[in-house]
Amino acid sequence: MARHFLTLNDLSPAEIEGLVYRAIDLKAAFKRRELQRTCNGRVLAMIFEKSSTRTRVSFETAMAHLGGHAIFLSPQDSQLGRGEPVEDTAKVLSEMVDGIMIRTFEHARITRFAENSSVPVINGLSDSYHPCQLLADLQTFYERKGPVKGRKVAWLGDGNNVCNSWINAARLMDFHLHIACPEEYEPDGEMLAGSGGNITLTRDPQQAAANADLVVTDTWMSMGQEAERQERQELLEPFQVNEEILAQAAADVIFMHCLPAYRGAEVSAGVIDGSRSVVWEEAGNRLHAQKALLEFLL
Ligand code: CP
Ligand code: NVA
Repeated sequence: MARHFLTLNDLSPAEIEGLVYRAIDLKAAFKRRELQRTCNGRVLAMIFEKSSTRTRVSFETAMAHLGGHAIFLSPQDSQLGRGEPVEDTAKVLSEMVDGIMIRTFEHARITRFAENSSVPVINGLSDSYHPCQLLADLQTFYERKGPVKGRKVAWLGDGNNVCNSWINAARLMDFHLHIACPEEYEPDGEMLAGSGGNITLTRDPQQAAANADLVVTDTWMSMGQEAERQERQELLEPFQVNEEILAQAAADVIFMHCLPAYRGAEVSAGVIDGSRSVVWEEAGNRLHAQKALLEFLL
């Protein structure tokens, strides 16, 4: 049976930490221009049913560096867009490639894909989760501040797919995640139910940010939610990460955002372009963290 990576829960805490440390080593090797051909001859198919910059480039580059190859498939130019079932696609691709990354809307589509795939399937973002982002974010935290266990992370804004993966991370890695969001955009009740004492939900962004080691946010309008722009903007406005919010956090707080970011909406320009922001190295770590993941799964 192939190991899949559909949510962070598919890995144990020890495995996640192992991937983080391997990613840090791979990054050092990359900086020395040493390439490790640990996926020599391996092929990754990448299905993108939503747009991407970072996920596509990081997976494709990772496979090239590791000695393998990546194939980009979009609905426009594959039979998926003409209605070939995911089950059939999964079975066919399993006959040819060593792993499949998929970015899509409904999370159940990825689950169905994985159930029909005999090679590892990686969730490159669904409406519900973004686990690859969390590997890079955890790596960034470890590099800057050491192990995350027992630390305080504040999530401000939409209780979305990335937030759900932070909830999984908080439970697995045993840190405190304070989520400040409006009632309308809370994370799924089921998500919160399974997360033990690691999650605090609040309407007060200042309280969430108080003494936080890390403040994180994401766009107020995820892919597929374009029609809700106006109401989201209005309800989420009090949850912007700005200088006033960061002033509540620990003196050495860092700021993360998975990107793409919208300055003046979920984050002020002063914060994302300021000295506390680690967003560029966070984005760069997608490459290293996913190399560690690809080695592990393929
Ligand atoms: N953060 C992230 O997944 O970015 P892309 O949508 O550009 O892949
Ligand atoms: N929450 C965002 C993340 C983009 C990487 C979205 O789903 O569009």
